[in-house]
Amino acid sequence: MRVGILTGGGDCPGLNAVIRAIVRKGIDKYGDEFIGIRHGWAGLIENIMGPLGKDQISGILPRGGTILGTSRTNPYKIDGGVKKIFDNMKTQNLDALIAIGGEDTLGVANKLHQEGISVVGVPKTIDNDLSGTDYTFGFDTATQIVTEAIDRLHTTAESHNRVMVVEVMGRHSGWIATIGGIAGGADCILIPEIPFSVEELVALIKKRQARGRAYTIIVAAEGAKPKDIDQFLTQDKSLDAFGHVKLGGIGDFLAKEIEKRTGAETRMTNLGHTQRGGTPTAYDRVLGTRYGIRSIDLVHEGGYGRMAALQGNKIVDIPLSEAVGTLKTVDMDLFEVAKVFFG
Ligand code: F6P
Repeated sequence: MRVGILTGGGDCPGLNAVIRAIVRKGIDKYGDEFIGIRHGWAGLIENIMGPLGKDQISGILPRGGTILGTSRTNPYKIDGGVKKIFDNMKTQNLDALIAIGGEDTLGVANKLHQEGISVVGVPKTIDNDLSGTDYTFGFDTATQIVTEAIDRLHTTAESHNRVMVVEVMGRHSGWIATIGGIAGGADCILIPEIPFSVEELVALIKKRQARGRAYTIIVAAEGAKPKDIDQFLTQDKSLDAFGHVKLGGIGDFLAKEIEKRTGAETRMTNLGHTQRGGTPTAYDRVLGTRYGIRSIDLVHEGGYGRMAALQGNKIVDIPLSEAVGTLKTVDMDLFEVAKVFFG
């Protein structure tokens, strides 16, 4: 078969492991031919693609990012975008497509499948907020980076008796904040799922000060919202092609409020895109590899409109529509574990 592969949305460590696994198994077991589509859906709309063989995938397993490039292009927001996709599938003689992405990319894949494109999905996002799968690859690497950053912030916070606010990614779900915060020993974690009270946060810091704990580490997901404001703090009001605002600002907001209300010297660190960069952990390389293998098998089983997923320790497949219907928010039992260490 002739199969197109694309990576869409924010990049994420482990994407190259998926691409490598698909191509290796596809060529060796099925005799497939692969076409690498550049820059996500943009490449399929604009016909920017090229052969993807063993030479192209050699040595890419430990590499961060995606050798195919990515973008947040939404074909449904481009005049004639979907028609161009159908035309280019034909021009390029593509029998099937494997789309590797998060909610937005797979949401498009799901719609295209309903319109007749033979597409299979692979779940990717550092945010870990896709439904139907226990983990998305990239999440483990991101939490490893957050944990290491919190460890480093601990020693400087302690030396200066400071409050440190660490802003991490997570628009609508606080998975990175929760797992990174538990692993890094955060004194409080703020997530989008639970609007927080600035008063209570200030009281927590004051209580620590009264106990002689002069420093505090607060981890805040970028989408965390104070109860009394109850809206996202944003960099500006512009929206991307999928209608997302550019978040950012919760860390600064908190640092100012905390310093003003507690008198404690407070600093903010926004980990930003460092969380998406660099080499994937062993876990993400293996998970990406397993997803890649399942996805090429799915293509040969005719499992279109489905997505590889991890449930327990097993790789399964589920309908794309199940994955993109609702976001997977933080498990509240897990958050209870984090709360034991607050204060
Ligand atoms: O891919 C998900 C994500 O990393 C979110 O956690 C974050 O809000 C967003 O992407 C940032 O997007 P961009 O790379 O477009 O700034």
